[in-house]
Amino acid sequence: MTTNTIRRLLLALMLFPGFSLIAQEIALPTDYLSTDFHKSRRQAFKEKLPPNSVAVIFANPVRNRANDVDYIYHQDPNFYYLTGYKEPHSMVILFSEPQMGPNGEMYDEVLFAQSRNAREEMWTGRRLGPDRAGEVLDIAQVLDHSAFKEADINFTAFDKVWFPQFHNDVRDTRSEADLYDLINQFRSKAGIPEDFNPRKHAIHQQIRESTPDYYQNLAEEIFRATRWDPGLKDDPVIQEFIGAGSVESRKKIAASIPKSNLDPQGLTNVMKQLREIKSGEELKLLRKAVSISCVGQIEVMKAMRPEMSETEIQGIHEFVFKKYGAEYEGYPSIVGAGYNGCILHYIENNRPSVDGDLVLMDLGAEYHGYTADVTRTIPANGKFTEEQKLIYNIVLEAQDAGIAACQPGGSMRAPHLAAKEVIDRRLAELGIIKEGESHNYFPHGTSHYVGLDVHDPGTGGPLQAGSVITVEPGIYIPAGSPCDEKWWNIAVRIEDDILITETGHENLSALAPRTVEAIEQMMAQKSVLENLSLPDLDKQ
Ligand code: GLY
Ligand code: MN
Ligand code: MN
Repeated sequence: MTTNTIRRLLLALMLFPGFSLIAQEIALPTDYLSTDFHKSRRQAFKEKLPPNSVAVIFANPVRNRANDVDYIYHQDPNFYYLTGYKEPHSMVILFSEPQMGPNGEMYDEVLFAQSRNAREEMWTGRRLGPDRAGEVLDIAQVLDHSAFKEADINFTAFDKVWFPQFHNDVRDTRSEADLYDLINQFRSKAGIPEDFNPRKHAIHQQIRESTPDYYQNLAEEIFRATRWDPGLKDDPVIQEFIGAGSVESRKKIAASIPKSNLDPQGLTNVMKQLREIKSGEELKLLRKAVSISCVGQIEVMKAMRPEMSETEIQGIHEFVFKKYGAEYEGYPSIVGAGYNGCILHYIENNRPSVDGDLVLMDLGAEYHGYTADVTRTIPANGKFTEEQKLIYNIVLEAQDAGIAACQPGGSMRAPHLAAKEVIDRRLAELGIIKEGESHNYFPHGTSHYVGLDVHDPGTGGPLQAGSVITVEPGIYIPAGSPCDEKWWNIAVRIEDDILITETGHENLSALAPRTVEAIEQMMAQKSVLENLSLPDLDKQ
């Protein structure tokens, strides 16, 4: 059933009394991703499954904040991308070929959705329930999540079973079909042992499927993997394979590894390929999230006063987000003045007055699931000092070089290499480092994909039209750095979201001023918040 058919049906139902619940749902925003989008993504996913294979994707866990208060629920982005379903305690199974159901019906997808429960819905909100989920999401087969326990799906009969890394923070609740139970039921049906280690398992299977002419390369690859996952070294099969002295002994090790259809990597790899390229619908939402974030930056530029706190500045950004209907921040907002700006993911935002310093503001509105990631750095007092301006302009030049390197077919590393070259050269010219000296003033990468996640999945391969990446060089000079004190506590990051196009790129966040002159001009403008006056609670 298409979205339009559902709308027509709901309108018809509204003509009858007693449908106030449905009528209220009609008043929701109308620009979410369409049912057809999610359906097309499932189709694209199924086409990438190997023959006779199955993929299982779980909803995110509900996470506890403290006592009886949970964090706001956020769906697993892969699960949302493939289904559009926003509720917890559910799972979706996608098959490479249609399967026959108990009544002879054929289906190649099944969602196990949360049951309706009037009492719980009164406290925590409405649920679609399996029946309506089938219609609204247009998924071939939707069953109550409690049906998975008895579902006749023989996972051992498939050539590949794709599944995600299991979360280790899933709580068992009173329900017998919560996420905890769904995962355990799946583990038991698929024969996944208690001590299953996805990395070890993947390496074992790689060894098993490798050809003798590749053994040496593979041994070196595995050895490199043990550097960032030292636990792998304790595994006897891995130890023996790396240390083996001959092709013959490696052949024996490979032959001793049992064949397994469990594949904890296929799902991740395909989701990287699919989510890297944004469709028109996705770009519309992403553009909106980015534009909202830019307006946040602009309004803060206008409203900034030196005596403002980091918290208040954060509040102005987030007020703008909500004013435009962006539900959340895509990641915890970063507002750091002076030294605090040197802390890359500073989220305390509790300095009482930003006076005298540069204020680094890295915030992204999340609009219908898609998040922006935009950083501007501005002087609390409205004018850059000479030192602040010099550092700022290096970062700006580095960012321009990085953005120029955003070309289809170009390397994902190219923006970073271009930005780093500028920063290294200019820092040496200012005498902050010696020429060729390695330094820690630019300690992070320059680009990542952005989308449903702020650090969105992608292949890392040549840049492709339709993907969106950040370009975000920075220079951070905390007090105590080995350079003249006049540079201390200057921290600058400038971050824009860049769409790769067929012919080059488009800066989606160009609306937010970037140059020293444009920022100072914007800061001199009147703010709509100027006359906002609230009572002084300390004087009451
Ligand atoms: N806001 C996090 C980042 O820039 O990657
Ligand atoms: Mn970023
Ligand atoms: Mn950022």
